[in-house]
Formats: sequence, structure tokens, C-alpha cells
Amino acid sequence: MSSYQDGDVERNISDAGRAILVGVEIREERSLFSVEDSLDELLLLVHTAGVEVVGRVIQRLTRPDPATFIGSGKVEEIAQQLAELGAGMVIFDDELSPRHQRELEKAFGEAVQVLDRSALILDIFAQHAQTREGSLQVELAQYEYRLPRLTRQWTHLARQVGGGAARGGSGGVGLRGPGETQLEVDRREIRRKISKLKEELEQVRAHRQRHRSQRSRAGMPTVALVGYTNAGKSTLLNALSGADVYVADQLFATLDPTTRRVKLPSGRIVLLTDTVGFIQKLPVTLAAAFRATLEEVGEADVILHVVDASHPRAVDHIDVVEDTLAEIDATRVPKILVLNKSDLVPDRALDLDIGALGYQEIVHVSALKKAGLQDLLAAVGRVLSASMVEIEQFVPYSEGELISSLYDHGVVLSEEHAAGGVRIKARVPGWLASRLARAD
Ligand code: GTP
Repeated sequence: MSSYQDGDVERNISDAGRAILVGVEIREERSLFSVEDSLDELLLLVHTAGVEVVGRVIQRLTRPDPATFIGSGKVEEIAQQLAELGAGMVIFDDELSPRHQRELEKAFGEAVQVLDRSALILDIFAQHAQTREGSLQVELAQYEYRLPRLTRQWTHLARQVGGGAARGGSGGVGLRGPGETQLEVDRREIRRKISKLKEELEQVRAHRQRHRSQRSRAGMPTVALVGYTNAGKSTLLNALSGADVYVADQLFATLDPTTRRVKLPSGRIVLLTDTVGFIQKLPVTLAAAFRATLEEVGEADVILHVVDASHPRAVDHIDVVEDTLAEIDATRVPKILVLNKSDLVPDRALDLDIGALGYQEIVHVSALKKAGLQDLLAAVGRVLSASMVEIEQFVPYSEGELISSLYDHGVVLSEEHAAGGVRIKARVPGWLASRLARAD
């Protein structure tokens, strides 16, 4: 097993303290959320991380200051507030460049911690990661975020993180080569950890991939839950896998505890998988680390997009999730819009054109009160049946992966071997039909 243990990476927030939040609106830059709404969301993130917020500062700018991100007048204003309010942390709603971070640390002085939304989200993810793969992904994202930000101020952290070596990692780490500064040693150490984590992630993924094909070979379609953070995905997963419909999936329990078997009203069993919650301004390193997991959403047979229908920004949340689905090329998978928390919105006031958004069905549920769940499962059954299309195609043997996908995800009706390949007649999910069409 690995020398990495969960929680090896230090938190970005050194202690639970008092913070001032800073939001910046760049004129003429289109953004989904207003600076105020985005700061409201940041406030929730900060609370989740256990920090008290004592002030909020907003600045409207034509462009960020190349050195300090905000203008020098604002820097002074914040410095004054920090002293008056006894706060030791300034948290920016936007991702700061390494240079911004350094300059701001200089301006506010050593006693003040300068953080951004990304650092905060990374911390929260690190606390919440449940699976081995999740922990590795977050750890990788943390190091990638830190590498360019490593300054003398951070080197003590790097040394502690590097302490993994003393606990049995590879030898020689931390030894300074001729002419090497401590900073260079720390950077080298972090790069080494990054490549080791990538290797480990590859192994975990390969393992999961093998299990995944075993599961789909057993003829079980996969249903992926996606949604904005806090939409209620986990609650829904648990509600749907309640005693009457749940069969413990022991085989994958350790590696992937967020996959459950669920029985549809027709008796058909599907595999329901939770995914990481989406959020606007997701740190780039985190988005990259989770990409492989998210890409699997593109291979699901149905996507359930869970929305907190009681949230005032529910429609914007839907947009953020839609953008991410487009980025990961998951737009071809049939989708059901699940308007959750219906117990909080009895009048169902969300104004949505689901056809325009490309949804097959819309279902109102309350995961908490376990209401509407049978309707949802029936909708999954309908979408699954409707989404299979019949194809007949010659596939060359060189397209081995495509042939196994046909057996994994489709129902093969006939096959005829010919020179160099096989002519297959099958019923397959839409996404696979389009992949076959592209290969033709
Ligand atoms: P992430 O882990 O951030 O992606 O969140 P999630 O989408 O998995 O949400 P989770 O299931 O953790 O639920 C978030 C909060 O919403 C919890 O406090 C739930 O109790 C609450 N919640 C979930 N479903 C409902 C619902 O139907 N009604 C109400 N009133 N609250 C709900």
C-alpha cells in the first residue's frame, strides 16, 4: 500500500479564526453570480471551514491590480479593519495568482493569513473526501495549487508535509543538494509527491475501471447523480437505497462506497453513483483532479441532475452544472432534472424550460421526507427504455474497446464475424450509438 495516509496534507487554514471576506467585480466581465451572491456563497464555505466572518469588502475594478489584485487604497482600508476587528485572515472570493498572494502577504504583514476561495474549497474537500480515490485527488490538487505558491513563508509547511519521508517514504528527501536553497528542495519534494500521487491514482482508477466493466457486464445500467454542492445528492442516494430497494454492494464497498444498487418499479436493477458536488469557481487544480471521475458521468446510461429547488439561485446552479456537463462531454447522456427539497417549496415555483435544457423528464422530490421517490424511479425506467436505440454495424477488431463497450452497455442481438471484424446488431444507449457512428 501507499506511504500516504489520509490527512497527510496540511490544511490551508492554520486555525479557526476571524476573517474579512473580499469580493471583486471586474467591470465588463460577464459572470453568472453577482459579487454579492458570490460572497454569500463564500460565507457559507467559510462557515463550513469553521471560521468566523467579521467583515466584508467589495471593490469594483476595471482590471485587477497586477501586484495586489485590489487597489492600494483598499489594501490599506482592509489592514485598518483587520486591526480594529481583531481579525487575522483575509479571504478572497477569486483565485489569487501566486504573485498576488505574495504581495498581499507582504502588505498585510506576517501575522495575517491571505487565502482565496480555491484554498478554502480544497480544505473542505480534504475534510470530506471519503473514498481513497477522493483523498488522492484532493491531495494532488492541494499540492498542485501549492507548488507555484511556495514562498519562504510556506516552507515550514512543506517541510512538515515532507515529513512523510521520515515516516517511511523514499530516502534522501529533504537533503539539500549543492547550491540548492530550502525552497528548491521543497519544490522538488512536492513535485515528487505529485508524480507519486498521479501514479497511485492511475492504479486506483484501473482497479475501479475493471470493477466497473464487471458490473456493467452483469447487465446493470448506471445512473449518475450530479448536482451543485448541497443540492441533496447524498441524501437522495441514501433515500433511494433504503431498506426496501437497497442491496448492499459489498464487493465495491471499500473502494467506492458511493455506488448502490437500486431496484426500479419494473424490477430492473440499476447502479446509482454519487459524484463530487459542483460549485462556481471550482479551483482549476481540483477540477482537473476530478476530471477522470467526472468523465465517467459521460458513460452513464442516465444522469440525474439534482437541484435544491428551494435555493434562490437554483437556476444559476443549474447553469453551472450544465456548463460542467458540457465540458466533460456528457451532453449526450439522457438526463432527468430532479427538483429536490420540494418540502420547502410547496408551490413549485421554478420557472424552467426543461425541453430547451435537454431534459427528458422533470421530477419533484424531497429526499429528506422520502417523497416522490417512486415517481423518480419510474422516470428512470422510462428514460432507460426509451434511450436504447437499435444499431447494426461492422466494427473492425482493431476497435476492441468499442466492441467490449457494446457488450458492456448494450444488448447484442446478433454477431457475424467477417474479415477483420464483426458485424453486430444490438440495442445500445444513445451515447454509444453516437460513438459508433463516429467510428464508422
Ligand atoms: P455535496 O456533498 O456538497 O455535493 O452535497 P449533496 O448534494 O450531497 O447534499 P447533501 O445530501 O449532503 O444535503 C445537503 C443538505 O440538504 C443537508 O443538510 C440535507 O439534510 C439537506 N437536504 C437534502 N435533501 C433535502 C430535502 O429534500 N429537503 C430538505 N428540507 N432538506 C434536504
